[in-house]
Amino acid sequence: MTANIVAPLQARHAEIIAGIHGECFDRPWSGPEMARMLCAPAISGFGAGDDAYPDGFILGQFSGEEGEILTIAVRPRVRQRGIGRALIAALIESAREKGVRSLFLEVASDNVAALHLYETSFFVRKGLRKAYYSRGPGQVDAHILERILT
Ligand SMILES: CC(C)(COP(=O)(O)OP(=O)(O)OC[C@H]1O[C@@H](n2cnc3c(N)ncnc32)[C@H](O)[C@@H]1OP(=O)(O)O)[C@@H](O)C(=O)NCCC(=O)NCCS
Repeated sequence: MTANIVAPLQARHAEIIAGIHGECFDRPWSGPEMARMLCAPAISGFGAGDDAYPDGFILGQFSGEEGEILTIAVRPRVRQRGIGRALIAALIESAREKGVRSLFLEVASDNVAALHLYETSFFVRKGLRKAYYSRGPGQVDAHILERILT
């Protein structure tokens, strides 16, 4: 991977993407969890930027004609430079190649950046899970979004 290029992830990226996840979410996924996912045949992952020190990554899971974005994360210091959009484009392309026709995801209703990214990437709201995520002492809803792949 070179700067702003997106490339498939391999098992050796498990620890580094766990580190990115930890920079971006309150409940980080561990290196071993990432390694398990990167080895799973149904899971596709892409990283952006330097191979040894990626700026961000995305993981998706495909099953037949349906797929799901499991997570996407871009390091805070390099956000709003198009990396998130490039990662989604790579995952969508991979999903299409594998025969996926419908891609789903869940996003917290207060996640303005992610909602903007998804909705301008042609994901549409299909449902709502009430009080789905913990946020401090409270909860926030999750929107279920879908993108039909043509
Ligand atoms: C969501 C996330 C992946 C976006 O990554 P990114 O590299 O900053 O995204 P991009 O630069 O490709 O931006 C895509 C669009 O979102 C917009 N955007 C990004 N951050 C934004 C913000 N904080 N507020 C409003 N819009 C924002 C960009 O302006 C761009 O829109 P435009 O093309 O219309 O200008 C990143 O913010 C992140 O890692 N957040 C923490 C983890 C997370 O919430 N993941 C999603 C879980 S569902």
